[in-house]
Amino acid sequence: MDAFLTFGVSLVFIFLSLRTTNQSSGSDALWSRWWTYTGQAGPRFWGNLSPDWSLCATGKYQSPIDIKPRALLFDPSLRRLTLEIPITIHGTLVNTGRDVTLVVDESSYSSLNISDGPLMYHYRVAQIKLHFGSEDDHGSEHTIEGTPFSAEIQLVAYNTDIYSSFREALQAPYGIAIVSVFAEIGQPVNEAFKTMATFAQRILWKGQSTRVETIPAKALFPNTNYYVTYEGSLTQPGCYETVTWVIFNKPIYISKDMLTSLRRLQQGINDDPSNTVANNNRPIMPINNRVIRTNINHQGTSTSNICGMTRYTFYQINPSLDV
Ligand SMILES: *[C@@H]1O[C@H](CO)[C@@H](O)[C@H](O)[C@H]1NC(C)=O
Repeated sequence: MDAFLTFGVSLVFIFLSLRTTNQSSGSDALWSRWWTYTGQAGPRFWGNLSPDWSLCATGKYQSPIDIKPRALLFDPSLRRLTLEIPITIHGTLVNTGRDVTLVVDESSYSSLNISDGPLMYHYRVAQIKLHFGSEDDHGSEHTIEGTPFSAEIQLVAYNTDIYSSFREALQAPYGIAIVSVFAEIGQPVNEAFKTMATFAQRILWKGQSTRVETIPAKALFPNTNYYVTYEGSLTQPGCYETVTWVIFNKPIYISKDMLTSLRRLQQGINDDPSNTVANNNRPIMPINNRVIRTNINHQGTSTSNICGMTRYTFYQINPSLDV
């Protein structure tokens, strides 16, 4: 099989690279070309692919997770998230072979800032990543009560109070905050997602990129002040446990056409229907002894539900966790 051959070849490369480079600096550069979401270089093996990626196998604070509404802890000290949103953001949209990533321009006038909520520092969005499925009934990384959404938009921000670059923050304490928004088919369609899905048609092959100048930044966020938060990791190698996740309780809406566009994107540089970027979600990871907190206070209103979806079971705070 092709994939297996590729794997063998890349093994040789990684050994060569380990011998010739310092292990901690850039030894994953080659592997970063080969890891995948299925097969021999898939999630179960990420931890073995590079010495820098051991947390993918051994970490106890990994992401994504399944969010169980009944097990959420209402934390009255959680503040509203403060968002400083420019009118538009711009950057370079890249087909990474694993996802669609908008690498946001560094220029401060376009910077989208996130603070407060569960965060102790100021964070600036550096990348926006799209995860989506080959069918409408899955695609998101996080799930609610076992149910995925069609897509998940992750705004990956880094701590600008302490760290001077995104790269530095990735592996550093309190380095990263990821604001996550679920997307599902519905109306009105989200203009920010639409812009990215449209421009994605120019980057069908891995490694291709295109400039996007006018993403309406405000549209990235659903109209809600409520969220769920927990301490976790990057969902891609090296799975560093530096991430405070903030997941809004409402989805945004997208069209079937947008998903169809994204599903054309290829993991490689050939048109291979079995090798599309879609289904780029890491499997659910154990919560272990983490507490998943929320600022949604449902005491007395047991009929509310998370994500504004009636299809979910009633939302109830676990009384044994209540503060
Ligand atoms: C985000 O923060 C930076 C640095 O403090 C600032 O220059 C920029 O104007 C902020 N962005 C917005 C939209 O306020």
